[in-house]
Order: sequence, then structure tokens, then C-alpha cells
Amino acid sequence: MKTIKHRVESFDLYTAKENMEEDILQNLSQQQKQIPAKYFYDKQGSELFELITQQEEYYPTRAETEIFMNDCKSIAQYTGPIHTLIEYGSGSSKKIKSLLSSFQSLEEYMPIDISEEFLLQSSIELSNQYPHLSVKAVCGDYTAPLELPIKGAGKKAIFFPGSTIGNFEPREAKAFLVGSAGHLNDGDGFIVGVDTKKDREKLEAAYNDANGITAEFNVNVLRRLNRELGANFDLDQFEHKALYNEEKGRIEMHLRSKKEQQVQISNRLFEFKKNETIHTENSYKYSIEEFQLLVQQCGFVPVKVWTDENETFSVHYMEKQQTKKS
Ligand code: TRP
Repeated sequence: MKTIKHRVESFDLYTAKENMEEDILQNLSQQQKQIPAKYFYDKQGSELFELITQQEEYYPTRAETEIFMNDCKSIAQYTGPIHTLIEYGSGSSKKIKSLLSSFQSLEEYMPIDISEEFLLQSSIELSNQYPHLSVKAVCGDYTAPLELPIKGAGKKAIFFPGSTIGNFEPREAKAFLVGSAGHLNDGDGFIVGVDTKKDREKLEAAYNDANGITAEFNVNVLRRLNRELGANFDLDQFEHKALYNEEKGRIEMHLRSKKEQQVQISNRLFEFKKNETIHTENSYKYSIEEFQLLVQQCGFVPVKVWTDENETFSVHYMEKQQTKKS
């Protein structure tokens, strides 16, 4: 542990770094080639992602922020006093700020992110703005089991905005929620942002912004593999493609090979047919009822849902179910 500034401590719990090569090779060897989405977030990727959220067509961030601004008081009423707030995938820690002033008894904020540079920078900024808050920045992969440095017995809540839960397969989302419950005591809270089902046109536009930022973000993962694993992807010969798979209720992002080509990574050669794709991300959309049903299967009790006017986005508050006394 190193102390950077008075109220910011940082913890490096990211242990999976050395497995990247193996992970990538294995995923590209599947019938449908894949790259796990967590590799999007190097420094450039995290910056590009911030830009995506500012695009006109990308409605989720704006809709969610609107909900946090309009309903922050209501959210704090439903959660009751929170002592420790844990944020998964905190990025720039922007969203939490719209809630912080409503959580008046908050003592401790614990942002968890895989991108260390981004994490530390935002934690220091946040700490300067909220000098009374103790900020414990955890560099780590929140999808893996983590021993969080939580002290004290006050009420905890996990904050997981941005419909990132939609980037898991539904069965992974369930395993993830069950795992998260391990960080919580009975009655502790979970605030999660979830994108809702809506018409194809609006959904597809959100992932195909006219400025090409999502496309750039998608292709950037290949740039990262070139740099960090010495791969030789020709970035001009792969193209971003995003479409809504209505049957599965998800947006799929792919990188399409524009021609027949070979790519070398480490000592392996990967063949691409023309139009063959690498599947890089899913973004599942849930109706309010679907999502409530899902959390109930994971030991949580749905308490309250907030949406914007047209239900383009939802924020769910749930609590870890009390275990029955025998
Ligand atoms: N979870 C958000 C979503 O699915 C943000 C996001 C994650 C995203 N990965 C992305 C947006 C890739 C665009 C492209 O919408």
C-alpha cells in the first residue's frame, strides 16, 4: 500500500496481467473468434470510452445521469445512511459525484478499476473535491474475486452504473451478482444502472456514432495487441460492426475482416476469411421485470427502480436478502 495524498490510499490487487497473452490466444482460437472486452481499457481505450459517452447518439450516459440528478434524494432515502460506497469500474468517477452530496453520512469511497493511471488521477481529483471522504482506490478486476480492504461495520453499498452489467452474459451476470453479495452483509445495498429494451434503430445508432468514436474504440483493442503482444493486425483491414440481436436482446460488437488475411500473435498464426468477425462485446438490454427477476435469483431483493421519462434507462436499487434465522 502506498499513500499518495492525505485521504487517498491505493491498493494494487490486479494480478491477472501476466495471463493476457494466453487469454487472447485461447479466445482467438474459438470457432467464433473473440477478444474479451476487458482488454479495451488501456489508457487510450479508457479515454475513447469517455468520448463515446459524450456522443449525441449514445443516450445511456445522458439518460442515467439525468436519473441520478433528478432522483439522488430519493435514492438516498431508499438506501438509508451508507458508510462505505464501492464502485465497480469507476473510470473517471464522474457519475458518483451526482450522488455524493446526497449520501451525507458517507465516510469511505472505494473505486475499483483496471486502468491504474485513470483510477489514481480521478481518485486524487475526487479527494480534492471531497476532502472529508476517505478514498481507497483499488486497482483490480472486479469480475474476479477480490479481498477488499473494507474496515468498519457500517452499511455498505455497491455502485455499478453504466449498464456494464449488460456486458456480461446473463448467466455470468448472475454469477457476478452472487460473487458481489460476498462483499456485502445482509441488508447492504446495490445500485445498478441497466439499459432497457427499445427499438432497433435507437439501439444500433448508439453503437454506430457518426463521429466513428465507437469504431475507433473497437479497433483500438487491436492496436493494443500489436503493442503489448507484438501482434501484426493491419488496423485498416478490420472494420467496426455493431448490430442488435433481438432474439438474444443484445447489441453485438464485432471487428470484421475486410479481406482474407493472416495475423501473427506470439508464435501463432490466425487465418481470417473475408467478412469473418472477431466478437468483441455484447451489451444486453433488460426490461425492468426481466432484471428484477434476475437479481431475485441471486440473493437480492428489488427495492426500487427509477427511470427517465421514456424509460430509455433504469436505475435499480436492491438489497442483499436477509438470511433466515433458524
Ligand atoms: N456498458 C455500456 C454499454 O453496453 C458501455 C459500454 C461498454 C460500451 N462497452 C462498450 C459502449 C463498447 C460502446 C462500446 O452500452
